[in-house]
Amino acid sequence: MKIAFVGKGGSGKTTLSSLFIRHLAAAGRPVIAVDADINQHLGPALGLTDAQSAGLPSLGAHLPLIKEYLRGSNPLIGSADEMIKTTPPGRGSRLLRIVEENPVYAACARPVALDEGSVRLLATGAFTEEDLGVACYHSKVGAVELLLNHLVDGPDEYVVTDMTAGSDSFASGLFTRFDLTFLVAEPTRKGVSVYRQYKEYARDFGVALRVIGNKVQGPDDLAYLQREAGDDLLAAFGHSEWVRRLEQGAEPPLRTLEPANRAVLELLKTQADTAHGRRDPQRYTRQAVHFHLRNAESWGNAKVGLDLATQVDEEFVLGVEPATAGAHA
Ligand SMILES: Nc1ncnc2c1ncn2[C@@H]1O[C@H](COP(=O)(O)OP(=O)(O)OP(=O)(O)O)[C@@H](O)[C@H]1O
Ligand SMILES: [Mg+2]
Repeated sequence: MKIAFVGKGGSGKTTLSSLFIRHLAAAGRPVIAVDADINQHLGPALGLTDAQSAGLPSLGAHLPLIKEYLRGSNPLIGSADEMIKTTPPGRGSRLLRIVEENPVYAACARPVALDEGSVRLLATGAFTEEDLGVACYHSKVGAVELLLNHLVDGPDEYVVTDMTAGSDSFASGLFTRFDLTFLVAEPTRKGVSVYRQYKEYARDFGVALRVIGNKVQGPDDLAYLQREAGDDLLAAFGHSEWVRRLEQGAEPPLRTLEPANRAVLELLKTQADTAHGRRDPQRYTRQAVHFHLRNAESWGNAKVGLDLATQVDEEFVLGVEPATAGAHA
């Protein structure tokens, strides 16, 4: 399952994604946690010290290694330099699996021990608001898009990404790479306006989007969210004293989280599990190609000096075994 948490700054993306990750790990599920937000806070939210978080390798800094590995022996990609963030996998490409060792994880992922279970953490690396809209930002988030486009995951395995809801995730295809996107919204006009904007982009690409209310303090807050998000509202996470203690530096065990909030995490898991069944590999691959062709035309061809449409392997579908030569005979 590929799951994203998006929402306005400060809405609680990192809090809810880290709690969801801990909930999955406690259930014994393999999880890769990805910090792709402007504010890199997922490490500390999973219990790393500031020094450990600052020492995390950044995906952005390892792009050449990532490209070289994923390219494998794909004959349509001459070299790693010819790969852009949207270059889709094809026959001969190396695919990633959630549970395995590979050079990309060795260079970029770090294990994080939780009070129940453990996960692997990947981080794009810090970037600032000034990076937005420039190459640096794109190359950092672009690494996540490349990884997701090459990742084959089973129904009981998860990638959980803490992401920003800014317009830059729409410039790339990243927002279409998830089985389910949880939009975290506070019961305020700003929280809800980010939802509306996201929904508009999402609709054209069939992105599965559910709203999770956060810091909900009573029936009026809940009624507000129900009115504004309608059927898209999946659940409401309450204002949590447990989260507040965490924020104050205590390390409360997950089992002491308020039962109503723990139930929300279980509901998210159930929704995620259902989303996997609705997955359409053909469509997923088609959309990867769509964004690749768009990026190729708008800047990639000029940058690389090649027609990058030639990188598309029409016969390849992610998650579906490629036909062997014999099958064509
Ligand atoms: N349910 C909650 N109850 C109490 N406090 C909460 C809750 N959810 C989030 N918070 C607090 O709100 C603040 C913002 O939360 P968080 O950092 O998760 O948001 P974010 O969307 O990831 O923000 P950013 O955009 O800065 O990355 C934090 O101080 C967090 O502890
Ligand atoms: Mg955050």
